[in-house]
Amino acid sequence: MARPRVLSGIQPTADSFHLGNYLGAVRQWVTLQETHDAFYCVVDLHAITVATEPAALRRRSRVAAAQLFAAGLDPERATVFVQSHVREHTELAWILICQTGMGEAARMTQFKDKSAKFGEQAASVGLFTYPILQAADILIYQANSVPVGADQKQHLELTRDLGQRFNHRFGDTFTIPEPYILKEVEKITDLQDPSAKMSKSSSSPAGILDVLEQPGPLRKKVMRAVTDTGSEVLFDEENKPGISNLLRIQSALTGTAIPDLVARYEGQGYGTFKKEVAEAVVETFTPIRERTEKLLADEVELDRLLAIGAERARVVARHTMAEVRDRVGF
Ligand code: ADP
Ligand code: NA
Repeated sequence: MARPRVLSGIQPTADSFHLGNYLGAVRQWVTLQETHDAFYCVVDLHAITVATEPAALRRRSRVAAAQLFAAGLDPERATVFVQSHVREHTELAWILICQTGMGEAARMTQFKDKSAKFGEQAASVGLFTYPILQAADILIYQANSVPVGADQKQHLELTRDLGQRFNHRFGDTFTIPEPYILKEVEKITDLQDPSAKMSKSSSSPAGILDVLEQPGPLRKKVMRAVTDTGSEVLFDEENKPGISNLLRIQSALTGTAIPDLVARYEGQGYGTFKKEVAEAVVETFTPIRERTEKLLADEVELDRLLAIGAERARVVARHTMAEVRDRVGF
């Protein structure tokens, strides 16, 4: 039997993935390629829903793709590509936009959150229709499952609704995807503000650990992570959110359970603990950074890998679109 197909995307909106992206998405994608027919795209069409400088967009798309390969995605097994390279996404998005009710689209809470920053009137229509483009990304590949965190559940529901509606109106065309519940990587929080998640939109770079950062700054940031006035390494989200976050990071990177880490650092104070967390981060990120740099320096090779991915994706997307166009009456 064919392996189930999984689809996921990541936005090229920063010059590096951070530790949250790595643990919450990228590392799990690498695992999924073992069991699934994996399609992963760098969603540059989504990135332009907010004003983006062209040179930055181009650079970030390449950096994102290079990091995915560097993190262990195998171009022989996984289909890794840049969304805009496969034009069919926008065509299907338009068709799905025409199947979506205004009220239905208006209920998407992520638009409300994202547009709150600059006000709904200033937000682009693309930001509003963002979830419908996402539905097109998923349905066009006939994906069986989509890895989702809590923030994406509503968008996957919309995708399922739109797929079912299309099938009902025009005849059976799309596979209706199921959520693939990601391994419970609880949110990694900002090192300077343990009440906020680590995010590229964090207020201070000191709170974020970037995959492409050098060992020196990485160590410094971990050593300076906000903790508390105590000295015991204990997992206590309420009273020791900073230490708890570092324990989550250490546990995720080393595979050691949190209670075992707590036992190991008993009586040792924060210094030793932080030093070892920093080493785990450096050990994980360094090979990925080195492979990313090598791939970015070899433009021909990165282009070649992305062309392979785009071609494989296009075959599936065109197949779906031939049927969609026919059913719609084009
Ligand atoms: P950001 O919050 O920096 O804008 P994105 O929203 O683009 O990051 O997230 C891309 C992926 O990384 C998503 O799958 C998301 O769940 C994961 N992710 C982002 N931040 C974190 C975090 N702090 N902890 C765990 N996973 C995260
Ligand atoms: Na985000």
